[in-house]
Amino acid sequence: MSLTPAGEPRQKITVASLREKKLQHQPITCLTAYDYAAARLVDEAAIDIILVGDSLAQTMLGYENTLAVSVDEMLHHTRAVHRGVKHAFLIADMPFGSYHVGTDEAVKNATRFIKEGGAEAVKMEGGEKRADLIRRIIDAEIPVAGHIGLTPQSVNVMSGYKVQGKSLSAIEQLMRDAVALDRAGVACIYLEGIPREVAAMITAEVATPTIGIGAGPDCDGQVLVIHDILNLTFAPAAKFVRRYGDAAALITDAVQAFRADVTSRQYPADSESYHLPKETQQALETVLERKRWMQR
Ligand code: KIV
Repeated sequence: MSLTPAGEPRQKITVASLREKKLQHQPITCLTAYDYAAARLVDEAAIDIILVGDSLAQTMLGYENTLAVSVDEMLHHTRAVHRGVKHAFLIADMPFGSYHVGTDEAVKNATRFIKEGGAEAVKMEGGEKRADLIRRIIDAEIPVAGHIGLTPQSVNVMSGYKVQGKSLSAIEQLMRDAVALDRAGVACIYLEGIPREVAAMITAEVATPTIGIGAGPDCDGQVLVIHDILNLTFAPAAKFVRRYGDAAALITDAVQAFRADVTSRQYPADSESYHLPKETQQALETVLERKRWMQR
């Protein structure tokens, strides 16, 4: 049986156990991961949810925003993450365009994330206006995570990445969005980039667990992008990001040390080299000696 870092036995996280955590007021933890190594480390650190976010468009693929990433690219990363996960609940983001064109197409794409990617749920952005589609996907036995507030796939409609829900009418719409997702039966609702007070109201109103990012401490859980907490984004951090490590400095130091060792012939050492077995070495010396003798 595997244990949490605190030595407690680990259970597989499911839709039901996430709901139970909300009922028991136990904070839910979520991080993104986009490859096998990160998935292993995050899972072994007993994080509840691993999200293969479409933020991989920027963090892994260097796109300017999330709009360009395709279903096939998302699936490639989801499969790698799936191979590294044992206990966490695995959610994959449906990328822009994969659920906007038609219901059948959306159900087909969602199905691919479960069958081909190994995800346990798919996430899609939007509230009230997605509720019918989300019901259809849940009808197809696929758990869905909602995502409202600052929804990065709407960057062009929102005219930039701006905190949402600041006016009374915007708060009312966010409440309607959250309630619509709750009634549709989503597994959890991501609340991104909204005032703390609004996130607290939504969290109190819905039975579904809320997972905040830039939404204050009153959500049922918190998510951050793993590249943000490790300083691997090459960009100024948003207000809500807390850095827990400096992987950029770690990687740069290691790479520079390797370069210095190779250029100064300090690497590899004899102890880092393979050697011939003694008998072969002796036989080789005899052959070389004979050759030298014949050339005299
Ligand atoms: O793509 C992503 O990483 C996300 C989280 C920030 C919620 O959607």
